[in-house]
Amino acid sequence: MSAQLDTLPKLRPMRGADLDRVMEIEPVIYTHPWTRGNFDDSLKAGYSCWVIDCGGSVAGYGVLMNGVREAHLLNLSVAVEWQGRGLGRYLLEQFVRIARESDAVQMFLEVRPSNEAARRLYVDAGFREITVRRGYYPSRRGREDAILMGLDL
Ligand SMILES: CC(C)(COP(=O)(O)OP(=O)(O)OC[C@H]1O[C@@H](n2cnc3c(N)ncnc32)[C@H](O)[C@@H]1OP(=O)(O)O)[C@@H](O)C(=O)NCCC(=O)NCCS
Repeated sequence: MSAQLDTLPKLRPMRGADLDRVMEIEPVIYTHPWTRGNFDDSLKAGYSCWVIDCGGSVAGYGVLMNGVREAHLLNLSVAVEWQGRGLGRYLLEQFVRIARESDAVQMFLEVRPSNEAARRLYVDAGFREITVRRGYYPSRRGREDAILMGLDL
């Protein structure tokens, strides 16, 4: 199933009331999804949590943690029916802008080596591979490495 992008996507802060919809999306697009508690904790911790609203429906979301002079993208997600329409790129660009507007000089994220779509998106946006974190993620076959990627802001 795909959805029609006939209204401009609107970026707005994530609210607690969005979490029912977020928790519908999350287990469909990840083998090891975040829990509702992970999103609750991120909101309570004051992380930069945003959703993309398309005509009143949450189509994507992400979570950015601001540290001292650096920002870490913890989650970047587009609902399966909205994928492939440029929303992931738009969301990433917005997080890069938000990170730039803070005092961050670098932005980091982790990605699974098997996640070719996300890796292409990040490389296209200028992120470079910094190192490999061995056995970082749980996976269906035990553990999977993470590639740590970074962008100079
Ligand atoms: C990764 C993700 C955020 C991309 O969002 P999207 O809206 O589908 O991506 P876009 O339409 O904006 O595409 C942007 C770029 O991503 C890459 N990309 C997206 N889908 C791809 C696919 N199926 N295969 C290869 N590259 C792909 C391409 O470089 C694409 O640019 P192009 O259209 O010029 O080729 C989305 O697929 C997603 O939520 N996946 C599941 C969750 C996830 O893996 N999140 C990232 C965790 S690190």
